[in-house]
Amino acid sequence: MSIKRIYCDISATTPLDPRIGELLTDLNEHIYGNPSSIHREGQAAKAVVEKSRRQIANAINAQPDEIIFTSSGSESNNMVLKGVLRSGDHFITSSYEHPAILKVLPYLESQNIDITLIKPDHNGMIQPADIEENIQENTRLISIMWVNNELGTINPIFEISSIAKEKNVLFHSDAVQALGKIEINTEEIPVDYLSMSAHKLYGPKGVGALYKRGGTKLDPLIHGGGQESNLRASTENVGGIGGFGMAAELSTTNLEENTEHILRLETYFLNLLNEQNISYSINGKKRIPGVFNITFHGVIGQDLVLQLDFSGIGISFGSACASGTVKASEMLVEMGLTKEDALSTVRISFGKIHQLEDVKKVAESIGEILKSNVEEIAHHAG
Ligand SMILES: Cc1ncc(COP(=O)(O)O)c(C=O)c1O
Repeated sequence: MSIKRIYCDISATTPLDPRIGELLTDLNEHIYGNPSSIHREGQAAKAVVEKSRRQIANAINAQPDEIIFTSSGSESNNMVLKGVLRSGDHFITSSYEHPAILKVLPYLESQNIDITLIKPDHNGMIQPADIEENIQENTRLISIMWVNNELGTINPIFEISSIAKEKNVLFHSDAVQALGKIEINTEEIPVDYLSMSAHKLYGPKGVGALYKRGGTKLDPLIHGGGQESNLRASTENVGGIGGFGMAAELSTTNLEENTEHILRLETYFLNLLNEQNISYSINGKKRIPGVFNITFHGVIGQDLVLQLDFSGIGISFGSACASGTVKASEMLVEMGLTKEDALSTVRISFGKIHQLEDVKKVAESIGEILKSNVEEIAHHAG
């Protein structure tokens, strides 16, 4: 008999919301025209793309013509960095951005762009004052993620973007982990560019978007046809784009309800850990609901991930695994954790798909694994 899986890696990606699954099947079957064609089939496809553009714009209180469809959050990040920065510019970002920012840096350096990396504080947040004091005459762009993917911590984006605006510097935020989890309002927060991705909010994989404030400049990354106002060539992924629109609408209109549900799961989970006298600490303050970067003292994080997987539960490492050996997460060490604690850290992320009984199974399985670890150590010691 196969065991029921409990997938607790919502920060890595989400399963499709069944309503979006139905929409995708319908679109893939019936909407096959090229949105650039003027015949009826083409116009039906264009209508899907434009509806989604409105839905995503509504989700972040923007205008539809400020939304550019891309293939992913990674592409949106690359597009801003490579499409804004030029030789001689200075760029400020943080040391704990997603690789879709950090791995672009060597390329930027090869283009004679000067880079300053800001480290997170011990709460896992970027301090606006650290940004302000590093702004130079030639600073063209600042890029700070809205929500960190490993910790779930929410950065003070209003304060940071306001500093950028005051100093006349462009501001980008990777909002891939924020969209659908917390409110994003581009009317109130002076961001110039925002990266988004559908697969983090129960939408399809391989479709992303970039918000670009009206009037701001950007060069395309992919040259070719005139799609997306000449900013992103290639025939649109119509089905994926339609699914993204629905995902943005569902997650933002049900934001309050989902948040309440997930916070209930969170409280229940922590109570269950406490009841079992489990020794743990949560890394990072001011987190989005349901995401735990959590150190379980006395266990190797990688072992816990593997043993939980064996019990039917999917969580992820808090440390990066490189060439077969587990390395303590640099980010956690920068935040002040010891290497041992960083190695004992995992990421568990709950979402709207979970119920109290799922959380109970996760907490109890962790308890059992930790208990058997202690017994094993005692056995070897004795
Ligand atoms: C913060 C952040 N940025 C960017 C990405 C990349 O998004 P995509 O998988 O759509 O390229 C991710 C996904 O892991 C992420 O968590």
